[in-house]
Amino acid sequence: MADGEPDLDALFAAARAAQARAYAPYSRFSVGAALLSEDGAVHAGCNVENAAYPSGSCAEQGAISAMVAGGGRAIRAILVIGDGPEPVTPCGACRQRIREFAAPGALVVIADAAGIRARFTLEELLPVSFGPANLQA
Ligand code: THU
Repeated sequence: MADGEPDLDALFAAARAAQARAYAPYSRFSVGAALLSEDGAVHAGCNVENAAYPSGSCAEQGAISAMVAGGGRAIRAILVIGDGPEPVTPCGACRQRIREFAAPGALVVIADAAGIRARFTLEELLPVSFGPANLQA
């Protein structure tokens, strides 16, 4: 699906499967993410923690790495799934990571096991942001 509403069911399924494979022995907080790239591909990631805590990585980071390694360069939509009372919105660093590859209107969807809980545009989560254009002379 190149245009129109992204297939959120497909993103949910991919993110949920990735969440189930998360490596989070320290926080015990498993997160999955799945993104739809401009070529219609879906790429997923999960958080991967580390005994040296700051060396851990977020689910969004894994999904973006998979997209780039697969040849994708633009995020149309990204869905993040985590459990708990509050919606698991991307951390500040991941908002910036998404920003690198997404337009202001790109969709950021938040879900838990029960389904979709919230949806935002990237601009809503990271207004007045710094991006690649800032580095152009
Ligand atoms: N985490 C993510 O993977 N994505 C988010 O959007 C929020 C937090 C991970 C990082 C860490 O492994 C665990 O959740 C607890 O912060």
